[in-house]
Amino acid sequence: MIQLDQLSKSFGPVTALDGFSLHVPAGSLYGLLGPNGAGKTTALRILCTLLAPDAGSVRVAGLDALQHPRQVREHLGYVAQEVAIDKILTGREMLRLQGALYHLGALHLRQRIDDLIQLLGMDDWIDRRCGTYSGGMRRRLDLASGLLHQPSVLVLDEPTVGLDIESRAVIWQVLRQLRDSGTTVLLSSHYLEEIDALADRLAIIDGGRVIAEGNPEDLKRALGGDRVTLRVREFSDAPESERVQQVLQACPGVRQVVVNRAQGHSLNLVVDGEAVIEQLRRQLSEAQLPVFSLSQSRPSLDDVYLQATGRTLRDAELEVAGIRDPKAERKQAMR
Ligand SMILES: Nc1ncnc2c1ncn2[C@@H]1O[C@H](COP(=O)(O)OP(=O)(O)OP(=O)(O)O)[C@@H](O)[C@H]1O
Ligand SMILES: [Mg+2]
Repeated sequence: MIQLDQLSKSFGPVTALDGFSLHVPAGSLYGLLGPNGAGKTTALRILCTLLAPDAGSVRVAGLDALQHPRQVREHLGYVAQEVAIDKILTGREMLRLQGALYHLGALHLRQRIDDLIQLLGMDDWIDRRCGTYSGGMRRRLDLASGLLHQPSVLVLDEPTVGLDIESRAVIWQVLRQLRDSGTTVLLSSHYLEEIDALADRLAIIDGGRVIAEGNPEDLKRALGGDRVTLRVREFSDAPESERVQQVLQACPGVRQVVVNRAQGHSLNLVVDGEAVIEQLRRQLSEAQLPVFSLSQSRPSLDDVYLQATGRTLRDAELEVAGIRDPKAERKQAMR
């Protein structure tokens, strides 16, 4: 249903997309996961014909979006990352205005608005001025706007950022219902848990390209092994770090060791089972490198990301925040 091939896009010296390709099957709920600045919004805006790529092709429902943007827009509903809502109008008036822009007939529009109010639980506040809405209310109204013309492809850019649990649950439920009734849903997110819980398939993007693609279970299963995050006392300088790595790498059953510098020099390991963990505790202790903390987990999507990039998704966001990207910091603050 959606075919993006070899997209590239630069803004001056910044490369936002670099050989970005994505194929989304019809009727799927597809997640685009990536840290701040990965290129999610750029890719979605190109898909929705709001931005022209420097190179590459965009097809929606078999149509070339660069040649036939108008026809493609009829298929698309887009819920942008930045909420664009008038403050003076009520929610219902906003939806009427939006419906008029889509040339929906008055009777059909009234029925459609009533249905969406029901679907998104907006009854109690839809006739209040939008200026009085909470973030979650605005997000729901935005979603209703994107759904008015019953698009076959719904594109949402981080639809649940900063929302409370109830608003998020409403949006998740609506997205699942839409998928079940045949709509193709593509959403971006930087919440691992969201994509893991919601998406049939996902692409992990980083630095403007897709670094992993598949369904969440397959991606995690392909990694295999248990994940261990480990910190060793006195593990602060480079020679010490090398010594720890040597001990770990010599330990049978340790498949991979990644030093995670962003996390106060912790180590992320992949190991084959419980017995290995006991053994590596023992060997570190014998080398006078006692374990300070150790946690163990099954592979997560963050491990898929770590495997591909050498850092976790959360660290990637901290890095961006570290160079004082205000957008990233705002999101960080909202966590
Ligand atoms: N209009 C623009 N002018 C200059 N640079 C831009 C513009 N739009 C995006 N960029 C840059 O392109 C890169 C990708 O940005 P994009 O908004 O696509 O990322 P994102 O994955 O949506 O991030 P976020 O999670 O923060 O929304 C970033 O480095 C960003 O600063
Ligand atoms: Mg974005």
